Amino acid sequence: MSPAATPARRQLHPPPVAASPFPYNPGSLLATSDLTLAQVSHLLARATALESMDPQLRSGILAKRRVALLFYESSTRTRTSFELAAKALGADTTLVSSLSSSIEKGESLKDTGLTLRALGAEAIILRHNSSGAAWLLESETRLPVLNAGDGMHEHPTQALLDLRTILAHLRPGVDSVTPETLAGVTVSIVGDILHSRVARSNMLLLPRLGARVVLCGPKELLPELAAHAGPGITIERSFEAALAQSQAVMMLRIQAERLAGLQLDLEEYKAAYQLTGPRLAALAPAALVLHPGPIIRGLELTAGVADGPQSAILEQVRNGVSIRMAVVERALLAPMQGESA
Ligand code: CP
Repeated sequence: MSPAATPARRQLHPPPVAASPFPYNPGSLLATSDLTLAQVSHLLARATALESMDPQLRSGILAKRRVALLFYESSTRTRTSFELAAKALGADTTLVSSLSSSIEKGESLKDTGLTLRALGAEAIILRHNSSGAAWLLESETRLPVLNAGDGMHEHPTQALLDLRTILAHLRPGVDSVTPETLAGVTVSIVGDILHSRVARSNMLLLPRLGARVVLCGPKELLPELAAHAGPGITIERSFEAALAQSQAVMMLRIQAERLAGLQLDLEEYKAAYQLTGPRLAALAPAALVLHPGPIIRGLELTAGVADGPQSAILEQVRNGVSIRMAVVERALLAPMQGESA
């Protein structure tokens, strides 16, 4: 066949959003730094409005829009709350998990994303064990991508729901935030900081609202370098000293799946860093106790503290649904509202 007779290459569907400087899609949420404080305020206010909206009215907001959940790591809270949030807005959702899909056969993240887009997905919620995976997926699909946790990097919706929980207790009624909103508030983040995307998202967001963030943990789980992640962050090795200055204390699980051979003496760890009833009562009797979950009772905190009156752990879980409603709504409506990330 001569070159002139070669059939024209079939045109693939163009991407839904034209190429532009990164990030491509204004509906994406990849990191807390994607959001201005005005956008954080908008999401907090929308979370409140959507939570109290008539369910029938609410289910018309994204009626029949298609949202894919793409999960390469296990999840209870994030996956369920994103799914409930999208469904509450009327969207159709589909779950693709690495254990029951062609990912098991070796299909790449790029090809999985392009496949979901070809199937009509208008936004993808991604959890992945590699830091930066959400950026890759967005750059390849140009769809709105919501980062539901990427490796040891970020978990931005967790930081937003943590913020909503902190504000409800320490600044009741406030959902419009400024650089002074949390002035005078110290939040200690305790435990496995090194492997925690939750710690990273919170330590980068809370100081922007005026909070002090104290990172607390042993050297193996908290390198000195962490203090330089951003302004407003300090390191305190003594749990007692950190607790004594905290209005909120966020306990973290030791991420056994990311320790990569690091051996820890758990009895020593518990002696130094476990949040117990006596420690809390003696040093921070009014502090809010937070934990992103999953909690390991008897390790980073005792069952009595987890179930105690200062614990806001289940409130954080509930706030996950309302915050994720606001974030999913933004993912699909932001381009229409002319919002730029
Ligand atoms: N906080 C959090 O990300 O929990 P899951 O791993 O259960 O989603």
